[in-house]
Amino acid sequence: RTIEWNAESAEKGGYEHYMLKEIHEQPDVLARTLEGRLRPDTGDVDLGGEGWEDSDLANVERVQVVACGTALHAGYIARYMIEGLAGVPVDIDFASEFRYRDPRLVKNTMALAISQSGETADTLAALRLARDLGARPTSICNVVGSTVMRESSATLLTEAGPEIGVASTKAFVAQVVAAYLLALRMGRANGRISREQGREMIEELKRLRARMETVLAPEAVEHIRELADRHRNVKGFFFLGRGINFPIALEGALKLKEISYMHAEGYPAGEMKHGPIALIEPDLTTVVVNSIGGVSEKSRSNIEQVKARGGRVIAVGSDRQSHEIAEEAVVVPESSEWLSPVLNVIPLQLLAYHIADLRGCDIDKPRNLAKSVTVE
Ligand code: G6P
Repeated sequence: RTIEWNAESAEKGGYEHYMLKEIHEQPDVLARTLEGRLRPDTGDVDLGGEGWEDSDLANVERVQVVACGTALHAGYIARYMIEGLAGVPVDIDFASEFRYRDPRLVKNTMALAISQSGETADTLAALRLARDLGARPTSICNVVGSTVMRESSATLLTEAGPEIGVASTKAFVAQVVAAYLLALRMGRANGRISREQGREMIEELKRLRARMETVLAPEAVEHIRELADRHRNVKGFFFLGRGINFPIALEGALKLKEISYMHAEGYPAGEMKHGPIALIEPDLTTVVVNSIGGVSEKSRSNIEQVKARGGRVIAVGSDRQSHEIAEEAVVVPESSEWLSPVLNVIPLQLLAYHIADLRGCDIDKPRNLAKSVTVE
């Protein structure tokens, strides 16, 4: 599967910045990443390319994910999906740590590099090391013919198209959707996902596009800009989330740091009491990502804890009760919990974008950052 990239398709298309254009492209990116892959009749997916057959996947005993930056956050989500849906244990590490820590891999390990560019030096070195240790090298990648792709025995292509904004947005959403497809394929191959469950998972994917469009509707975006205006001069931000939305807290904080240069930290909500809670004060805004699911009640109690210490809370997600107790809310449509990260990340991307814009930052050329880090 290849797609045509040309200068024209890479233009800003009426948006002020590439980043904003790419945020708005995300429903199309979803559609492209799903195109030709869904097999509702068998409750399965065809990932495209070689190396994703039952015989390649049924005996995988462990997955080792390696990635950097935003792709690493997609990897954390992949861990929840592959363990929770396909029943296969997953390890994940910063590629820069994996490559230098003398890792031990069990037999039948599938190494999974996640990379937008396919050229990140640390990710590539980690993938090569895992291969040398006996793992089967695979990848989720956005660039056809990239080094990561060439060195993988199987690649799941994200169809995000060229991403120009240095802060990754649409590539991330494509990686998360790809991880869901991979979990489904693995679970079908190893028998842990039934045909009926597979069908239901596919149905959820088909409902996702309209839900993403709701989050990107003009009034929803305007609401985020107002929030950004109210919070743009605070001392810093906390992003909290649990379960599959914990990596979204990391990603929300990373986006804000990258383009607005504000101090922001992402934490699993349950860790807050082990230190970060000491920082809570009215001048620090806490964003709690909370969608309806197994851990939503737990995250609600984190909102109460922040409030009790005088902190301001913005609740983002589909959990209505969180909206009621938080000072401000961003309502996100309900979906399967597995796919809630795709929806919840969008308001956080927009929040970072608008805060950076209101602070006069150079959004498409943030200081000190490179789109692709091909050297150490
Ligand atoms: C750089 C970019 C990030 C990106 C990371 C990994 O730091 O600024 O946006 O997430 O590299 O890049 P990759 O191409 O491997 O996904």
